[in-house]
Amino acid sequence: MAFLRRTSQIPTQEAEYPMVEFPDYIQHPRIRAWIQDMVGLCKPDSVYFCDGSQAEYDELCELLVDSGTFIRLNPELRPNSFLARSDPSDVARMEDRTFICSHSKTDAGPTNNWMNPREMHHILDKTFDGCMVGRTMYIVPFSMGPLGSHIAYCGIELTDSAYVAVNMKIMTRMGKAVYDVLGTDGEFVPCVHSVGMPLEPGQQDIAWPCVKDNNEKWIVHFPEERSIWSYGSGYGGNALLGKKCFALRIASVIARDEGWLAEHMLIMGVESPEGEKTYVAAAFPSACGKTNFAMLIPPKSFEGWKVTTVGDDIAWIKLGKDGKIYAINPEAGFFGVAPGTNNKTNPNAMASCAKNSIFTNVALTDDGDVWWEGMTKELPAHLIDWQGNDWTPEDAKNGKKSSHPNSRFTAPASQCPSIDENWENPDGVPISAFIFGGRRSGVSPLVFQAFNWMYGVYFAATMGSEMTAAAFGKLGEVRRDPFAMLPFAGYHMADYINHWLQFGRYIPEPPRMFFVNWFRKDAEGNFLWPGFSENMRVLQWIVSRAKSRARGLETTLGRIPTYEDLDWTGMDFTEEDFDKVMSIDIDLWKQEILSHEELFIKLYDRLPKEMLATRQLLLSSLWREPEWTNRAE
Ligand code: OXD
Ligand code: MN
Repeated sequence: MAFLRRTSQIPTQEAEYPMVEFPDYIQHPRIRAWIQDMVGLCKPDSVYFCDGSQAEYDELCELLVDSGTFIRLNPELRPNSFLARSDPSDVARMEDRTFICSHSKTDAGPTNNWMNPREMHHILDKTFDGCMVGRTMYIVPFSMGPLGSHIAYCGIELTDSAYVAVNMKIMTRMGKAVYDVLGTDGEFVPCVHSVGMPLEPGQQDIAWPCVKDNNEKWIVHFPEERSIWSYGSGYGGNALLGKKCFALRIASVIARDEGWLAEHMLIMGVESPEGEKTYVAAAFPSACGKTNFAMLIPPKSFEGWKVTTVGDDIAWIKLGKDGKIYAINPEAGFFGVAPGTNNKTNPNAMASCAKNSIFTNVALTDDGDVWWEGMTKELPAHLIDWQGNDWTPEDAKNGKKSSHPNSRFTAPASQCPSIDENWENPDGVPISAFIFGGRRSGVSPLVFQAFNWMYGVYFAATMGSEMTAAAFGKLGEVRRDPFAMLPFAGYHMADYINHWLQFGRYIPEPPRMFFVNWFRKDAEGNFLWPGFSENMRVLQWIVSRAKSRARGLETTLGRIPTYEDLDWTGMDFTEEDFDKVMSIDIDLWKQEILSHEELFIKLYDRLPKEMLATRQLLLSSLWREPEWTNRAE
C-alpha cells in the first residue's frame, strides 16, 4: 500500500487498514486523511482521541500507574503527582540523532544533521511500519500559544505513549478546542511519535518502552512539509514534540518565512515600586539556569520590586502594528531540571511542582515524596533512586546520585507564584530588552550592553558556553551556541543570523541587547558572582538602560555599568569585587574574537557580511588598548 505522507493530500482510495471512526468534532479532511494514513502505517490496536479534559488526564494517569510507568506520590505531600523512571538509555535529548531534512542540504546548514527527505521518508516508512502493533495510538491535538492567538500555532501529535499524552496536557494547551480553531482547513504541524516497541500478542509491556540502541532512534524534521517524526525515545524533547521540535526547529523555519522570531528564550516582567513594568526576553544555552532567572525573587533590599514569569524556555516574537515587538510563551508548563532546585535557589519552581506534576528520573522518599540532589542540605537516610534501587548517604559518598542529572519536573505554569498576569495574553507582552548569556569562567564581564542591534547580533551569534557535562563536547570546552539555538535552529545557522539582522531593520526602536555572565571565576576557580537573587541588581540596570535612564561607561565591547550604577544595598560586594567580575582583559578578548573565526569558517557560505565587518571593527578597537578597559588591574 502506498502511504500518503503529505497533509495536503487526501487519500484517493480506501486504506486497507480498518477505517478510523472519527469523532464528529473533527471536520478537517486533511487531518482525517493524515490520521487514517498514519493508522494504516503504524497499525495500532486502537485509536484514542484525546479531548484534553481533566477526567481524561486522571484516567490516563491511572492507566500509567496500572502499567507500572507511574508511581502515584503521597497525595498529602504531593497531591495528584506522579513519578516515572525512564530506561537508563533514554534520559536526554539526542542531538546526534536529530535531523533537519530540507530539500537542499545547504538549507539545513553545517550545524544540523541532514538527510535527503526522500531517503529519510523511505527509512521512516520502514521504521514506522507496524511500530504501534499491540498499542493504542493517542491523538493529541495541541496549541502552542493561547488558543486562537494570532501568534499561536496548532499541532497534532500521534503517539503510542500515554506518558507523552499526559505530559502534553501540562506542557501545551491540549484538547479538542484545537479542532474548533482549525475548522475545516486550518494549518497544523503533523507530529508522529512512537516509542518503537510494538507488542506481540500476549507480550507483557514494560514500564518505559523505548528502543535501547540509541543509533536506532530518530528525531526528524521536514521543514518544507512542516512535519515531525520521532521514533524510539519516550523522553522529554525527543517525545513531547510541541517543545523543541515544533516550537523551535519547525517554528524557526515558519518564523523565517513569515518574518518573526522563534527563540530559545525565557520571558520575564520587571516591575518597579512605582508600578512601571518592563518585559525582557533572555537566551541562555541549556544548563545555564534559565528557569531560575525567569523566576527570580529580588533580594530583600529591593522592596517594592517584582519579577514576574511569562515563560522559562521558548519565546515567539512578532512585530506589532505599533512598531514594538511582542512575545508569547508558546508553552503552558515547565519541563524543568530538578537537581539543584530548592527553596533557596528557586522557591517559585518548587511551588510550581508542589502538586499536579509529573517527575521523571528523580528519587522516591520513604514517605512517598520525591527528592533530588540539592533539594535539601540534609540527605534523606534512605531513598529509592531513579533506577529503582536502594540509596543511602553512603552512596553519595561514593559519588552515586539518587536522581539523574537531567531529571525533570513537568509542572503547570499556572501554578507558578510569579506567573505574570499577561502570560496568556493572546497579543503577547512588549519586549524592551534582549539578554544573552553563556557560562564563561574567564572572558566575559558580568554585564555589558551592545552598541546597537548589529553588534548585539554579532555577540549573540558568537555566544559560547563552557560544557558542564561531557554530553555535547569536552568538559569545560567552549561550545559556540549562537543565540542558544545551536541544537534548535531548523535551518542554516548563517541564514538564521541574517534573519535577526533583517528583523532588526523593520523595528523603529529595536530593543537594546545585553550580555551577562553569571559564571565568572577567579584564578582559584571560585565564582566571582553569587548569582540567583543578586542577578536582580544587574537586571535593574538593564531595565533602566532599556528605558535610556541609567548611564554607564562606554568600552570596546559596549556600555557597562560603573560600581555606582548598581544598587548594592544589602549586599557585601566591594568596588574591588565588582572590578574583578567586570574586568575586560584585552588579550583574552583578542583571542576570543579571533576564535570566532572557527564558527565563521563553518558558516562561511551564507554568513552575513556584517559579521565579518563587525569582527574587524572589534579587533581594531581592541588593538588600541584603551586604559579604562583594564579596570581591574
Ligand atoms: C531544555 C534544553 O531542556 O534546552 O530546555 O535542553
Ligand atoms: Mn531549553
